[in-house]
Amino acid sequence: MPPLVTLEKHGNLGVVALNNPPVNALSHELRRTLCALLAEAFADASIDAIVIWCEGRTFIAGADIREFGKAPLAPDVPEVVELIDRAPKPVIAALHGTALGGGLELALACHYRIAVASARLGFPEVTLGLLPGAGGTQRLPRLIGVSAALDLIVNGTLVSAAKAHALGLIDAVIEEPLKEHAQAFGARVLLERRPLRRVSELVAQLDAPEQLEAYRSSIAQKHRGFLAPFHCIEAVRAAVELPFEAGLQRERELFVELMASPESKAQRHAFFAEREVAKLPGLAAETATRALRSVVVVGCGKRARALGACFAGAVPAVTLLAGTQQELDNTVAALGVSSAASVLDGANAGEGRAGMTCTLDARLLSEADLIVEASAGDVAAQRSALARFDAASRPGAILVSTLPYSDIDTIASCTGRPADVVGIHVYRGGAARIVEIMRARDTSPEVSATLMQLVKSLGKVPALVRGPVGSRMFTEYLREALFLLEEGAVPQQVDRVLHDFGFQLGPFAESDREGLDIEWNHRKARFDSLDPRARACTLLEQICEQGRFGLQAGAGFYRYDADGNPIPDPDLEALLVLHSKDRGVVRRTIPDHEILERCLFALINEGARVLEERVAARPLDIDMIWIHGYAFPVYRGGPMFYADQLGLAGVRDAMLEYAAQTRAEHRTPAPLVERLALGAKGFYAAP
Ligand code: CAA
Repeated sequence: MPPLVTLEKHGNLGVVALNNPPVNALSHELRRTLCALLAEAFADASIDAIVIWCEGRTFIAGADIREFGKAPLAPDVPEVVELIDRAPKPVIAALHGTALGGGLELALACHYRIAVASARLGFPEVTLGLLPGAGGTQRLPRLIGVSAALDLIVNGTLVSAAKAHALGLIDAVIEEPLKEHAQAFGARVLLERRPLRRVSELVAQLDAPEQLEAYRSSIAQKHRGFLAPFHCIEAVRAAVELPFEAGLQRERELFVELMASPESKAQRHAFFAEREVAKLPGLAAETATRALRSVVVVGCGKRARALGACFAGAVPAVTLLAGTQQELDNTVAALGVSSAASVLDGANAGEGRAGMTCTLDARLLSEADLIVEASAGDVAAQRSALARFDAASRPGAILVSTLPYSDIDTIASCTGRPADVVGIHVYRGGAARIVEIMRARDTSPEVSATLMQLVKSLGKVPALVRGPVGSRMFTEYLREALFLLEEGAVPQQVDRVLHDFGFQLGPFAESDREGLDIEWNHRKARFDSLDPRARACTLLEQICEQGRFGLQAGAGFYRYDADGNPIPDPDLEALLVLHSKDRGVVRRTIPDHEILERCLFALINEGARVLEERVAARPLDIDMIWIHGYAFPVYRGGPMFYADQLGLAGVRDAMLEYAAQTRAEHRTPAPLVERLALGAKGFYAAP
């Protein structure tokens, strides 16, 4: 293994190079070696200035997150940073790649900072539920002003080298190769006898006395539920109100508080889960993939358009296959895509959105590398569509089903090549970062790997599962919410409770947005397998039968104004009262904590079943699907992580109590919850 840090002499310049792949994180061993070599360079009378730069793809991307939560080992990052600040000779940070967090803090302690044009700089700590804890909140406002510093620290925004230069964060944007130009810059600093410019000696001032309070109010809604953004503001307050040393101390106190907070633990869990989710055990990283040059999405509806738009960014040719001339005309008009009378003949009509075309020419199926069924509304229609694609397409083409609730094994079995069949589910019309890839029993690893790679190339996070996960759990969550309506709650109360927990939308507003027909169709398809209480809770069909299909229809669980804002609806409340009466249920006032627990425990319980049936391989797959697919609050880590924080014994006991109280036998804890609770374990491990 090459050394983590080296010191080379080039004339009277000392060049310190860090080499800790993949991202030069400030691990303990690196910090120790760096301090030793810096001390050596400071003491060496033949070295007049020092350049710090990094080998590999990036400058330091921050503290080593894997060390968080463990006992800190000296020297810690603040010690390294302060050592550089006090250096007796100029120290220059030469940046490339991403200079982040502790890496940028180290650079801020240097006396000069230069970067290549492609470098990006920032403080992403807030996304880990933290604040820059090695002087970043004290130095940045001193260097670039309070307003710009708040923007970077509180939002975790990365800036380009050019923007950093304009802000005064760096002294120059330099040419590549970095090492040579950094040395030339160092030589210039010496030649021009430039002073030791210590950022710690500058003064940070507010633009107006009420600036911090105004800023706090301006971000209150956006950062609702998070702790770190507000602690960041307090740290910046220390930079303007306290001397530098006292400010550092205040920053440390706030950092330590955040590090111990449940919010940060959850956000750090999410950081690693997001990287882990794409590495599935059982699917080797080197699995071969198939080339995807052309995708045909069959259909022109909401689902088809969303999928087409997603793929258009990554695949050279994406075509929506319309069923009728009317569909073709509507799509061309709505999306601004080009129409193609016959794509195979190259008869494209007009310029449209890059990479996307719409056609009626089904012969295109024979040329496609990937065919996506996005028009059929039920499993039978999907099956016959995939059988048709099987016959029409060339060997090796991948066939994709997109029904959110479909049993992918049943669908794959209608083709003669189940190894080529896979399901996908995008959330929020393709806007969500997660994509569920559902492999069938016989889907080949190559096909799974191809889809995983495609999703990654879209900048999204792929979760490889054995069947529907997010939608299946949502059904149980909504079912419990409907029981609550039957017992006495109203949609706005349930939604408020879940919104206060941290969801953007509660279950009813979420269902209205997605369209109630989806859940209704699913309910109809599995009606015979429902338990008696679920069958008797007919609220969904009563609402849909009135044409209240949700936001698009102008009414669902709410009524919607012209701007799409939900309005509680007395007609719906009358329907609820009547339904409860018909069912012989005496409506009662349901406390908020009961609403919260019953909805969340229904979600967690179904997640446990999904794990037990191996539909999802790991709890982190479920957490990622819920954080990205349903905006489960990231500062709670996802439903399975959150359950572990609550303790599964408590979850189990509460479920049993609610089951007894509401005579809801269906709500018995899943066997996995029972087993883990008995063993005092969590979904992730023993607590
Ligand atoms: N510590 C430890 N490991 C890290 C890391 C860090 N700061 N940053 C990234 N890694 C690891 C990732 O976990 C991943 O590991 P695996 O290959 O084992 O999965 C590997 O490095 C590569 O990371 P990515 O897959 O994310 O690579 P990328 O090229 O897509 O992105 C990156 C690179 C932009 C640096 C991105 O990894 C990133 O944003 N990292 C986090 C940066 C960060 O939050 N820094 C602040 C740390 S907190 C801090 O510094 C506190 C302080 O004030 C002292």
